[in-house]
Amino acid sequence: MALRTQVVVIGGGPSGLLLSQLLHRQGIESVVLERKTRDYVLGRIRAGVLETGTVNLMRQAGVSERMDKECLVHDGIVISHADEQFSINLKKLTGSNVVVYGQTELTRDLYDAREAENGTLIFNVENVQILDADSDHPRVSYEQDGKSYRIDCDFVAGCDGFHGVSRQTIPISARTEYEKVYPFGWLGILSETPPVNDELIYASSSRGFALCSMRNQNLSRYYIQCSLTDSPDDWSDAAFWQELKRRIPAATAESLVTGPSIEKSIAPLRSFVTEPMRWGRLFLCGDAAHIVPPTGAKGLNTAAGDIHYLYNSFAQYYATGDTLGLDQYSEKALARVWKAVRFSWSLTSMLHRFPDQTEFDLKIQAAEVAFMKTNQHSQSVLAENYVGLPY
Ligand code: APR
Ligand code: PHB
Repeated sequence: MALRTQVVVIGGGPSGLLLSQLLHRQGIESVVLERKTRDYVLGRIRAGVLETGTVNLMRQAGVSERMDKECLVHDGIVISHADEQFSINLKKLTGSNVVVYGQTELTRDLYDAREAENGTLIFNVENVQILDADSDHPRVSYEQDGKSYRIDCDFVAGCDGFHGVSRQTIPISARTEYEKVYPFGWLGILSETPPVNDELIYASSSRGFALCSMRNQNLSRYYIQCSLTDSPDDWSDAAFWQELKRRIPAATAESLVTGPSIEKSIAPLRSFVTEPMRWGRLFLCGDAAHIVPPTGAKGLNTAAGDIHYLYNSFAQYYATGDTLGLDQYSEKALARVWKAVRFSWSLTSMLHRFPDQTEFDLKIQAAEVAFMKTNQHSQSVLAENYVGLPY
């Protein structure tokens, strides 16, 4: 059975849903193909810090009501090293801030909006193939419940994440991949406890990195750097809390409210970029094209930057036939992607313990944090990147 639409969006994660919703608001038709179910997608625990640019895109998409009501506006973050800590005043240094709102909730809001507006979301698709992407008549084929389908379209947006089919559709001879795998992971837990601090704490210690975050006033999110050979079952709640307390300043550890974990998982850390992010009428967005370590909270926010560029390019094309935005998409998106990849790598390098570090290396790390503690310019560099560079 053959369907036809203007844009086929592969992937029903935050990138695909945000693009589909923004296109809909411009009267541009799309079909979202998602491998899993809505509940499966919403079951993924993800990060929770949004740049202002991402918040504005959600407003532009008409999907910000709950976020505006429930989000936490954060004007600063805390950096700690052993027992020393200092706050970086994002608002004072940049005039901007970030918003704490779970990515899962943002994805839920986007699903609700697409379904309320009768968006075409097709779940449980299998064997998705992108055909003739480098022609003027791309098509996407897929299977569902044992039946085969084909969608003829003008364009394909590959929003199918790191393990999707879109990036692989670009011939290896036509793309270049850049990767750095970090020698550690993050063990994260969710607990129905009040956050230990009003602002996020990025903690560096001789035992490794830790992060104190939250979702709301009674739902906290904590991470500790862990070995890649660890599994969540290796860590009892008691062991996790004990280790977290040893990595954050003692005064903060004393006020930490612990409780049973309601989610516990380990994420590996990697930096990855594929170039270009376009091949013919196929455009890659989000994790399909790039991955960052979660240290700088840039995963979703870099995906949002891609969606900003691609959405505006499609809107320009369908309004005027002008392909300038589409022709500049890959170069523009990659320029911002690489700055986010650099920032995420830099913050990861400053705050984590690496197995091959020498005593000299540890001294350099300590000096970098000590310099930042008293230097506004150093703090401004971090703050400008953390709140989000301009689109
Ligand atoms: N066909 C259809 N859907 C697919 C396929 C496929 N072949 N492969 C993957 N998918 C779906 C996945 O099930 C997932 O729901 O594509 C979606 C991709 O979503 P994400 O991986 O969340 O990527 P993205 O939407 O770009 O969001 C980026 O979310 O994953 C985090 O760390 C990431 O914060 C970043 C943000
Ligand atoms: C989170 O709350 O999950 C979170 C916050 C900031 C990060 C990473 C994760 O840098």
